Amino acid sequence: MCGIVGYIGEGNAKKYLLQGLEKLEYRGYDSAGISVLQDDKIVTVKKKGPLKNLKNAIKNVDLTSDVGIGHTRWATHGIPSDKNSHPHLSEDKKISVVHNGIIENYAVLKEDLIKKGYKFVSETDTEVIAHLISHLYSGSLLDAVISATKQLKGSYSIGVISQDEPDKIIAVRKDSPLIVGLKDDGNFIASDIPAILSETKDIYILNDNEFALLKKDKVTLYDERKNEIERKIYKAEFDDVTIQKDGYDHFMIKEIFEQPKAIKDTLLSCIMGEKVEMDSIKYDNLKDINKIFIVGCGSAYHAGLVGKIVIEKWAKIPVNVDIASEFIYRNPLIDKNTLLILISQSGETADTISALKLGKKTGCKTLAITNAMGSTISREADFVFYTRAGIEISVASTKAYITQLIALYAFALLLAQKKMEKDEFENIKAEILLLDKKVSKILLDDKNIKTIAKKIANEKDIFYIGRGVSYASAMEGALKLKEISYIHSEAYAGGELKHGPIALIENGTVVIAINTDKNLKEKMDNNIKEVASRGAYVIGIVPESFKNSNYNDTIKIPDTKPELYPVLSSVPLQLLSYYVATEKGYDVDKPRNLAKSVTVE
Ligand code: AGP
Repeated sequence: MCGIVGYIGEGNAKKYLLQGLEKLEYRGYDSAGISVLQDDKIVTVKKKGPLKNLKNAIKNVDLTSDVGIGHTRWATHGIPSDKNSHPHLSEDKKISVVHNGIIENYAVLKEDLIKKGYKFVSETDTEVIAHLISHLYSGSLLDAVISATKQLKGSYSIGVISQDEPDKIIAVRKDSPLIVGLKDDGNFIASDIPAILSETKDIYILNDNEFALLKKDKVTLYDERKNEIERKIYKAEFDDVTIQKDGYDHFMIKEIFEQPKAIKDTLLSCIMGEKVEMDSIKYDNLKDINKIFIVGCGSAYHAGLVGKIVIEKWAKIPVNVDIASEFIYRNPLIDKNTLLILISQSGETADTISALKLGKKTGCKTLAITNAMGSTISREADFVFYTRAGIEISVASTKAYITQLIALYAFALLLAQKKMEKDEFENIKAEILLLDKKVSKILLDDKNIKTIAKKIANEKDIFYIGRGVSYASAMEGALKLKEISYIHSEAYAGGELKHGPIALIENGTVVIAINTDKNLKEKMDNNIKEVASRGAYVIGIVPESFKNSNYNDTIKIPDTKPELYPVLSSVPLQLLSYYVATEKGYDVDKPRNLAKSVTVE
């Protein structure tokens, strides 16, 4: 996903822009650029490739300025190249624009602007915005931006500067996050809080179709009819140190080791007390619910698969789980007695936001489980529960995923607490409250897992198998491995191998078996024998109490209730993926082609 920063104040805009872009690198990008206003002229430098290419290009260039905008691009329209990088300029070079999102009607607008005589230099949708604002400009940059956005369809967060109005930045958001940072000697715009956290914690969070006019000593917000808007200042909870690596080699390993605390903090917020309490979720608002949909993408979807099993088992309510991009186009059967649960770490994933909008349109109740306060999903859902994982920087989700599981366990108990036997309820709760300590114990096995990782780092294909909740863990494990080590890895339900996939097993094929449920152990043992007898190298993730071990390598995890194993089995799978990727020398936190939050459908 693209990253936007902007600064206007009494300082060196170049410094703040580069600093902000560095803090947004974790989101994934393929080019970067800045525009600054110098002696009332716009100076723009933009480069394909990592931020250091831009830094090298400007290190000897005097870009002293009080106002500027910057951007890291994750290519959607047009290949990664210098000319497709942002910022994009109007033809007269008087207006510069940065944009995150997708302009769905850019082709029609581009054709019309070309007919009007405008010349385009890039293949991007964003360049249309620069020419359109220029075309509509008649003395007020704010008016021109408001008019231009009326013609735009799609998602956008936009930052604009103009040499004719050098004392301001105009910003606007629709379906793509944008915040304003407030400081006594200047003001900022950014796609995400980390970009400006070192400078200020005082934030305005823009809502859809809201505009910000930033001057060095004043910020004014407007709606699309140019009415001024009052907005409460949101105080960012994190500090800049939180998002540093604290001595770890990568954010991912830091966040893996933060999981005991993330679990504990999330538990404290929902089931440490007598009853289950979950932020704005109240049981009385949900007692008429007779069907639940859980929707998310990637790891959030895998958490939903676990949520289905525990909600159906403990609360006896039927649950469907959908990948968001499938859900929005399959006409799901939802009505006012349906609860739609949206799971999203970032709270900004476009597919999941679209699912939320579909749910609201059909009148069902919507509940968001997210790690991002103030995110779109958290603000648009009827109810929200915040996982307390703390800011997650690495593209590969770990602590956010684990706390989504905790949230789903707590929610299932909340729904069940009036139906379930008290003893059973207390027994489950007690087991959940031990999970953070059990994860700490698994983390002590770090060296053994690293040794196993080195053995499989050069494999071309790796298979994961599991049953029940451990099938979801197998999917999550396969995703972790493929997204940071680029090894082709697939998850299969243990019972499904004989229906085709076992044809792929040959001598030396690596199979990772997540075999945790004593009720399914015999079946899984058979599946493991099936692959082992064809020469597979089997790595077992098994509870300490499981005795017989017909694995080539074994990773033991503490015992717990069958439904709770995904919290425990995911940790070795995360570490395994991390050590394979570092063994291969890859950029673990910023894997190729990926973004931390995918804000385009
Ligand atoms: C997980 O490791 C991946 N980075 C990805 O699948 C992610 O879970 C997915 O894009 C959903 O993101 P969200 O939770 O922010 O909506």
